[in-house]
Amino acid sequence: MTTTLNFATAPGHQVLAAAGKKILRPGGRKATEQLFTWANFQPGETVLELAASFGESAIEIAKKFNVRVVGVEKNPDSVAKAREKIKAAGLSDRVTIIEGDIFQLDKITDKFDYVLAEAILTMQSDVGKAKILSAIKNHLKLGGKFLSHEMFVRMDESKVRQSLSQSIRVNANPLTVEEWSKVCQEVGLTIQQQQTGEMGLLNIRQMIQDEGLLGTVKIVWNVLTNPNLRQRVLQMRRNFQQQRNNIGYIVFISS
Ligand SMILES: C[S@@+](CC[C@H](N)C(=O)[O-])C[C@H]1O[C@@H](n2cnc3c(N)ncnc32)[C@H](O)[C@@H]1O
Repeated sequence: MTTTLNFATAPGHQVLAAAGKKILRPGGRKATEQLFTWANFQPGETVLELAASFGESAIEIAKKFNVRVVGVEKNPDSVAKAREKIKAAGLSDRVTIIEGDIFQLDKITDKFDYVLAEAILTMQSDVGKAKILSAIKNHLKLGGKFLSHEMFVRMDESKVRQSLSQSIRVNANPLTVEEWSKVCQEVGLTIQQQQTGEMGLLNIRQMIQDEGLLGTVKIVWNVLTNPNLRQRVLQMRRNFQQQRNNIGYIVFISS
C-alpha cells in the first residue's frame, strides 16, 4: 500500500488504488464487458486506451481478443505497474503503455480501430472534454469506434458536481445522457448503443465482482486498519450513497 499519499487530499482514484482497488470505473467490470461485447473486436485490430492505469482492460482485451493495444497513462507508478503486469502476462509484443498526457495525443501519429476511455472524461471540464473527444475522433480510422465508460447524472447537475468534486478531490463533471450524446455529436461521433446503471464503485456486491472475494477482503482490511484511509473511503462511499438515485454509470459505443 502507498504510504506517502495524503489520504485526506489525494484524488479519490489514488486513494482507492492505495486501498488495493484495481478496477476504478463506476460500472465496474460488468459494464466494461458490455462495451467489449458491442465492440466485437477482431484479432489483429488496434486499440488506443486513454488513462490505462494498471493496464487491466488493455491486458484483458489483448488476451481475450488478440488485439494490439497502446495505452496512455500519466501516473508513472501506474505505468510501471502496468508494464510489469503486461510482461508477466507475456503480452509485451501486443500491449504498449506510453507514459503521457491524454491532452497531448497529437504525439501519437497512428490511427486505431478503437479508442477506449474509462473513468477519465468525467473528470474534465467542458473544454477539456471537447478537446479530448476531438483528439479521439482524430485517432480513429475511418469507421473506427469510440468505447466510453463514464458517470452520468440525472438532475441537479451543478449540486451533484460540487458535492462529488469535494469528496473525490478532483473535478467531477458527469453529464446527463443527453449531454454525453451532444458532446460526442459536436466532434462528429454518434452514439450507436448505450447502457446506464448503478454507480457501484464502492458497493460490496460490485467490489466482489470486480476484485474477487479475496481482493475485497484485502481492501476492507486495509480500509478498516488505517484510520485516515477509512475516513476518506467512507466519506466517498457516503457521498455516492446519498446521490445514488441521481448518478450512475454510462457505457456507450460511438462512431
Ligand atoms: C479513475 S482512474 C481510471 C483508470 C482506468 N481507466 C480504469 O478504468 O480502471 C483515472 C486514471 O486516469 C489517469 N489520468 C488522469 N489524468 C490523465 C491525463 N491527463 N493523461 C493520462 N492519464 C491521466 C490517472 O492517473 C488514473 O490512472
